[in-house]
Amino acid sequence: MAAAGLDFGTSNTTLGVVAGGRADMVRLEGGEDTLPSATFYHYDGTISVGRAAVAAYVGGEHGRLMRALKSVLGSALMEETTLVGRSRVKFRDVLKRYLAEVKRRGEAAAGQPLTHLVHGRPVHFVDGNPEADRLAETTLDAIARDLGFKEVSFQYEPIAASLDYERQLDREELALIADIGGGTSDFSIVRLGPERAKKAERAADVLASDGVRIGGTDFDRQLSLGTVMPLLGFRSRLARGEIDVPSVYYHDLSTWSAINRLYEPRIHRELVDLERRAAEPQLIQRLMRVVDDERGHALAIGVEAAKIAVAEDGAATVPLDWLEGGLAAAVDHAGLVRHTGELARRIGERVGACLAAAGVTADAIDAVFLTGGSTRLEHVRSAILAAVPEARAVAGNVFGSVGMGLALEAARRYG
Ligand SMILES: Nc1ncnc2c1ncn2[C@@H]1O[C@H](COP(=O)(O)OP(=O)(O)OP(=O)(O)O)[C@@H](O)[C@H]1O
Ligand SMILES: [Mg+2]
Repeated sequence: MAAAGLDFGTSNTTLGVVAGGRADMVRLEGGEDTLPSATFYHYDGTISVGRAAVAAYVGGEHGRLMRALKSVLGSALMEETTLVGRSRVKFRDVLKRYLAEVKRRGEAAAGQPLTHLVHGRPVHFVDGNPEADRLAETTLDAIARDLGFKEVSFQYEPIAASLDYERQLDREELALIADIGGGTSDFSIVRLGPERAKKAERAADVLASDGVRIGGTDFDRQLSLGTVMPLLGFRSRLARGEIDVPSVYYHDLSTWSAINRLYEPRIHRELVDLERRAAEPQLIQRLMRVVDDERGHALAIGVEAAKIAVAEDGAATVPLDWLEGGLAAAVDHAGLVRHTGELARRIGERVGACLAAAGVTADAIDAVFLTGGSTRLEHVRSAILAAVPEARAVAGNVFGSVGMGLALEAARRYG
């Protein structure tokens, strides 16, 4: 009988377990607290998760990789199936098997069954659709109960991060928590402090929470559409008429959660036809090669790696020589900003909306706590900080604050 806090992220998952009143993060894979939210279905029916799943795919093993499945929550797709070898699996079951493995690893580390769960959630899974939002939470709740959790409750991810941040405070402040992850950007404006931390009921300390469905996977998509997809025929012309080839293939191919749609047999037939009608058939042939060899995730992995390298070092290339000798896409900081600046602007705009909802002006915010992998993007950080120019910027544990906060909350609720 033990309690846990689960941060099931679009890109990464963490789990914190409460034992003897203490919250500790579980080493979910090797020595790492983070487990990439990825599942690889081997064609023999077994699965690998996390880095091992990505490695199986990259190593060319026969099977199907799935990432960013959190993005599917709240949509009708959840009850639909995806083709894996000769059989079809429901997205819901893919999620369940992944989370079952996370729970199993948590129980192995804790040495006892995990029975009580505080589940993280974004402020909005889906923008402007309360119905879909409820459905997403209900689905996660049902999966957790199917997995054997007896008590399941939810907490907003930025509120969880605030609890982790609060531990380092020695006086009271009004903080903006900004959690910019793989799928969503989430904000809370909260009163924090050592005295307040001791209270059991914190609702009055939360002035507002708000979020928008923009995260690192959207930056990946825009960067891919801007730099890699044109090499595969995106925005190229059909031979007759003044029209472009359909853009839907390129959108799916650059969207982590949609890549596998291209492996439906019908798509191959459509592309054969498209190649015949295209003004530059050699570009469509590259697209066909990616689809036929099921290398869509290899492209996405290359683009994400280039984004991270640009954030860290200022420039990078996406190597595509596996697709065609000498082919590559170069990315630098200016290019990254050109293709994804609009996303950063919309994230910054949401800070304004959160301030308005809290009924405070920007200068009332003492500190901005930055967490989530996408806060490593300089233009994202500046868009947020520009909305609260006088606040002190505090860099959080980018991948760990939410999970730790959820475990602290689990200790408070169930410990
Ligand atoms: N150094 C870096 N520079 C830029 N982006 C990065 C860096 N490291 C990771 N990222 C991006 O951060 C994102 C993952 O962040 P994080 O693990 O916080 O998301 P998550 O919690 O899984 O998602 P969410 O909370 O939105 O469901 C990915 O899109 C990844 O590409
Ligand atoms: Mg997150």
